[in-house]
Amino acid sequence: MATVEHTDEMVGGGPEGHRRRDFINIAAVSFAGVGALAVVYPLVNQMNPSADVLALASIEVDLSKIEEGQAIKTIFRKQPLFVRHLTPAEIKTANAVPLSDLRDPQTLAERTKEGKEQWLITMGVCTHLGCVPLGAGEGENRGEYGGYFCPCHGSHYDTAARIRKGPAPKNLEVPEYAFKSDTVVQVG
Ligand code: FES
Repeated sequence: MATVEHTDEMVGGGPEGHRRRDFINIAAVSFAGVGALAVVYPLVNQMNPSADVLALASIEVDLSKIEEGQAIKTIFRKQPLFVRHLTPAEIKTANAVPLSDLRDPQTLAERTKEGKEQWLITMGVCTHLGCVPLGAGEGENRGEYGGYFCPCHGSHYDTAARIRKGPAPKNLEVPEYAFKSDTVVQVG
């Protein structure tokens, strides 16, 4: 402020007059700079995932406690996720099904990782209208094909979580995942 009052007295041209205009220009540019920053920052900030989004982006599942024949339900990106430890008999049953019998033809090998066919990891969301199928919880109805059963409109999934009967058009979705060790899987 002191500078402006001082230069006010010098209006009227000459080197001092220039100095005053320079000051005003610099002040205006600085102000515009602050304004631009204020606009840009929220945009940039919106493009960075927030901490809770990052936390939801991937999860780790400990497989060591899931016995053969058991499954667990967990949550991945706010949706149910089924992690199932198939028995040798369930694997055999899945592998015995001709692809021509399937509405959404996929082998168990295509739906699991090589050498880890016993770990069937799928979303727990029926591909018909999105209900949560039964079959992952202890004692729940696994449907006519021994996999999962959606009670909303009667979709039956087999031991590879492939749709076999009922209105659902697709197999239960297999999310992106990777084994971090023999007993830990990172999903997402
Ligand atoms: Fe599962 Fe309709 S939502 S059968």
